[in-house]
Amino acid sequence: MKTTLRYLAAMTLLALGQSAAHADDAALIKQGEYLARAGDCTACHTLKGGEEFAGGLAIHSPMGIIYSTNITPDPEAGIGQYSEQEFADAVRKGVRRDGKHLYPAMPYPDYRGITDNDIHALYVYFMKGVKPVAAKATATDLMFPFNQRWGMAFWNFAFAEDKDYHPVTPADLDRGKYLVETLGHCGSCHTPRGIGMQEKALNDSSDTYLSGGELNGWPVPALRGMPGWSVKDITDYLATGRNDFAAVGGEMTGVVEHSMQHMSDPDLQAIAGYLKSLPAGPQVNYHRQDADKATQQTVDTLTQGQNLSAGQLLYMNNCEACHWTDGKGAKGIFPRLNGGDVVLEENPNALINIILQGAETPSTPKAPSVLTMPGFSHRLSNKQVADLATFVRSGWGNNAPPVTEKDVRKVREAQEAEQK
Ligand code: HEC
Ligand code: HEC
Ligand code: HEC
Repeated sequence: MKTTLRYLAAMTLLALGQSAAHADDAALIKQGEYLARAGDCTACHTLKGGEEFAGGLAIHSPMGIIYSTNITPDPEAGIGQYSEQEFADAVRKGVRRDGKHLYPAMPYPDYRGITDNDIHALYVYFMKGVKPVAAKATATDLMFPFNQRWGMAFWNFAFAEDKDYHPVTPADLDRGKYLVETLGHCGSCHTPRGIGMQEKALNDSSDTYLSGGELNGWPVPALRGMPGWSVKDITDYLATGRNDFAAVGGEMTGVVEHSMQHMSDPDLQAIAGYLKSLPAGPQVNYHRQDADKATQQTVDTLTQGQNLSAGQLLYMNNCEACHWTDGKGAKGIFPRLNGGDVVLEENPNALINIILQGAETPSTPKAPSVLTMPGFSHRLSNKQVADLATFVRSGWGNNAPPVTEKDVRKVREAQEAEQK
């Protein structure tokens, strides 16, 4: 059965290859460029300020630092000698041209469902649409046993090859599901990881899929069902990095900047529709039932300004000017903290991170202004950040657990270690 499928797939690939030879390269290059954005290849394969796709970005993994490689068409430093089949195997199976295995810092377990048509366009784009860069990227040099690339074959056997995965034809593929599961590789951050660092589920056959994860100590929210968000709220967030509930932060900033803002409206709607269609998991809701009344009480306390707690006082002195007394901010400019998703995460680390380091929304064609939240790491002590975060999580309609000085110290230490 499996062999027959493989054989059929190979024949289709051949047929496609032949007909595509006549196709207009320019159109294919454009399509491939769009798909490369959908797959956010640049996120890992381009250094900040470096040549596009020339690699060399250090990716921290539990095994050690893995450097992304040069995927420009340079024949020596890059992938210029890759055939289309070799390219397909690298992207979908994590096997390099020399037959060695790639580390799963390259999200091939997600990409394995990319259709042959899309692989073809990507290949044409990387070979003909990308400028070759002759500089070799820094080589990965892990310690034993992780330097043994053959070990990855066992990893793949155990985790990556989803034996129940049925490739579906593009025709019956729901576009949103396809973009989320494969090119978008949303699960690589939004699905929890297991003991082997593998994503616990690679598609929606399991309700662990997209049920939220953690990335360098930063909580990554669940995307299942997106309770409280409409399709428009989701597409606004992906296209502009902001909506009525949230402004983008952490690793998601790059996803919006390099990838999602470039997607067409129908594709964004397909993604949002697909996320809405997934049954939501059990959720803790830290928004009060009587949020309106509670909000009024907090507003009254803050405006009277008497006997304010340490956290309330810090809020009035440092935050109120932008996020306002009612914590609702200004639509599309200053995100709401009252009922805001980031504030109400079970794990307070994103909130602490943002207070310490600040955040910036990307500039996108639909929302060009860059909104900046200043960082307070030099102005506030760990105790002050804890008091402030505790107030923000419990004031107005919010009802999330308090933050301790120790929580803040951990985040600050992690940030300092990263900056070294
Ligand atoms: C999350 C980070 C990440 C993303 C996103 C990513 N890659 Fe990679 N990729 C890597 C890393 C890291 C390596 C090198 C892994 C290794 O050395 O084992 C790699 C290796 C490769 C290779 C093998 C090249 C060689 O040196 O032989 C190819 C081809 C490739 N990536 C193509 C792509 C394409 C096409 C996309 C977008 C569809 C993409 N990558 C997106 C991290 C990423
Ligand atoms: C000068 C205006 C300004 C001040 C002062 C300010 N913020 Fe912000 N804040 C912003 C902007 C703009 C954003 C959106 C940036 C982003 O998240 O990319 C933001 C984002 C946030 C977020 C993330 C919300 C989300 O949905 O992603 C939190 C939490 C936050 N601010 C808390 C605070 C706290 C607490 C203070 C006081 C210590 C504060 N801010 C002071 C402007 C400000
Ligand atoms: C590199 C890691 C990464 C990838 C890949 C990624 N995300 Fe995210 N995403 C995050 C993080 C981190 C946050 C939390 C942002 C914050 O704290 O402000 C987030 C937040 C979000 C949110 C806001 C949810 C909420 O309740 O506030 C949406 C919607 C979202 N991502 C959609 C997607 C989609 C769709 C994809 C795939 C196309 C995707 N993400 C891929 C890391 C990632």
